[in-house]
Amino acid sequence: MSVTVIVGIQWGDEGKGKIIDFLTEDADIVARFQGGSNAGHTVEIGKDKFVLHLVPSGIFRKDTLCLICNGVVVDPVALMDEMRGLEKDGLDFKGRLQISTRAHLVLQYHRTIDGLYELKRKDGEKIGTTKRGIGPAYADKVARTGIRACDILDENTLRAKFAKQLAYYNEIFSSCGEKALSFDEEWSRLRRAAEYIRPYIADTVLTINKAAREKKKIVLEGAQGMWLDVDYGTYPFVTSSNTTSGGACTGSGLSPKHIGSVVGVMKAYATRVGEGPFPTELSDAVGESIRSAGREFGASTGRPRRCGWFDAVSARYSCMVNGVDSLAITKLDILDQFDEIMICTAYEVDGRKTFDMPSDTEKIIAAKPIYEAIPGWRTKTSGATSWNSLPDKARKYLDKIARLVEAPASIISVGPRRDQTFMAE
Ligand code: GDP
Ligand code: IMO
Ligand code: MG
Repeated sequence: MSVTVIVGIQWGDEGKGKIIDFLTEDADIVARFQGGSNAGHTVEIGKDKFVLHLVPSGIFRKDTLCLICNGVVVDPVALMDEMRGLEKDGLDFKGRLQISTRAHLVLQYHRTIDGLYELKRKDGEKIGTTKRGIGPAYADKVARTGIRACDILDENTLRAKFAKQLAYYNEIFSSCGEKALSFDEEWSRLRRAAEYIRPYIADTVLTINKAAREKKKIVLEGAQGMWLDVDYGTYPFVTSSNTTSGGACTGSGLSPKHIGSVVGVMKAYATRVGEGPFPTELSDAVGESIRSAGREFGASTGRPRRCGWFDAVSARYSCMVNGVDSLAITKLDILDQFDEIMICTAYEVDGRKTFDMPSDTEKIIAAKPIYEAIPGWRTKTSGATSWNSLPDKARKYLDKIARLVEAPASIISVGPRRDQTFMAE
């Protein structure tokens, strides 16, 4: 079957954008199924670097149709700005992009309250959100007070729903002593963006199912990563959607029987941006050297990413939940610098060794990683073009982490560019 789901196995920023671009050379459809403009997916082609937030990573393949599906929360202003930026770079969206009628909108009041919630959380309780309004927009969806892209198709409906919700949020803002949002200003911003994206709104469920029936090649693009999933992640230090492969079906309207395979993207080490537990975090010079070599700064917010060794405990659990058929392992080149590389193979929790990720976040916070040392290869890998051109020790490292997470490696990435990617043997 030719429907592939691509998901992040760790805490996001695994290099999904790059891998999706690599895998979509001959894809008919690339469909984003969850998240919003909190995502930052980087695609580097030659000397050009693009960071995508809402636009699917298949956009650089001119014959690929891109879908923003119902599971995504769409900020119309952010999407318009992103599309305009890409248009300046020469991209044409006509006939290339559809936005689901059922996708919920992220509006200014969601962004404002996202920031307020963070401000009011005490130290230790802060989530470190991207402040893009993601959590509040999903909360409105579940509370059944959300506004959807189909509402954009009728301006009077949009205006009435927006006025009602804005008044509701303004009451909250006033009760916290915060400035209320001006209806006139916000409506005029929304109206302009709504007009811009209106031609792209369509029933993407019909589009994707027709393509599946016709056996077209479909790639379902995940955002964030397993440990940010609202059900499985390090709750409450998570995002507000299902980032795991199950979310690909509810988020796109494609039934599970169409899914052919799941590709899990993971870095050869680990990073996390924002707050929350990260058992293998290195708050020392080693972590710093990973950050600087890997240019580990958030693609959306610019925040420094926390860096650490590869964590096989969390990655194995993640491959199980996602049903990963094969792995894309990225950023191998960043480990070139080390004489010795650590792999976390187990945790010590409550004085006992465990190979499974605890569900209780407090236990994850207290978990002590148990490491196995692996010899480094100390050879530049960024020029490698095949499995056989990698140093023997690098191949052993890759084999080892794939064995530990119980999924085979299929794609190896040794640099940010499209051409620094090859199939594993
Ligand atoms: P995403 O959110 O999963 O798409 O990942 P991001 O784009 O946020 O972060 C991944 C970063 O690593 C980007 O800056 C990529 O250009 C870069 N990158 C991806 N793969 C590799 C790799 O194999 N080596 C190096 N050095 N950089 C990579
Ligand atoms: P991509 O798709 C890394 C993190 C935030 C915060 C938490 C909740 O580029 O991998 P939110 O704004 O979603 O409510 O923030 O989730 N986060 C990400 N971290 N990569 C991402 O996306 C992320 N999207 C959200 O830093 O800790
Ligand atoms: Mg990212």
